[in-house]
Amino acid sequence: MTRSLWVLMAVLAIGVAGYALVLMLLPGFGPPFVADRRVTVPLALFAHLSGGLTALAVGPWQLNARLRARALGRHRWTGRVYVVAVLIGGLGALGLAVRSEEGLVTHVGFGMLAVLWLASTFMAYRTIRAGDQVAHRVWMIRSFALTLAAVALRVYLPLSQVAGIPFADAYQVIA
Ligand code: HEM
Repeated sequence: MTRSLWVLMAVLAIGVAGYALVLMLLPGFGPPFVADRRVTVPLALFAHLSGGLTALAVGPWQLNARLRARALGRHRWTGRVYVVAVLIGGLGALGLAVRSEEGLVTHVGFGMLAVLWLASTFMAYRTIRAGDQVAHRVWMIRSFALTLAAVALRVYLPLSQVAGIPFADAYQVIA
């Protein structure tokens, strides 16, 4: 990956992680459905936000080859943090997916994303424990590509609204 693409990815990932952090810390902030989830499924919401924002914030540094080569010990520890973050964020996502806005299509879309997010991260962990660095790298790229779905959603959704697509249609297609 070129340096400028890495910087773009890191800025977008950290921007969305920051949004999730503000959402966690300020009860009055965010869309109305989040206020509802704070009451109905607080554990799933906070697991999802805390795990998701941690995974987004640490992922870009893990994928940077130069940083990895310079401090392998730190890469290992941050990698463990990433895996635990996805586990917590992914289980929270499953709890939210069954209640997501706009019905069955988004339940299935977000639900499948959560399962694939957990599975790809598990595979990345398993392959490195088995000493297979090539497969570990491939699975980690898949895992973080899925983590970046959080960024993609927040780019596509505003664009769909600017394009005049009804929210319900756009949300189902994007999910
Ligand atoms: C990649 C797997 C992910 C899945 C399957 C997933 C799933 C979901 C679901 C189902 C909701 C509730 C939507 C609704 O009720 O309509 C949600 C909301 C949310 N998710 Fe995720 N998510 C994922 C990753 C992330 C990550 C990495 C973050 C990073 C911080 C994140 C941040 C949020 C936030 C902030 C909300 C609240 C909604 C908003 O204000 O936009 N998600 N997610």
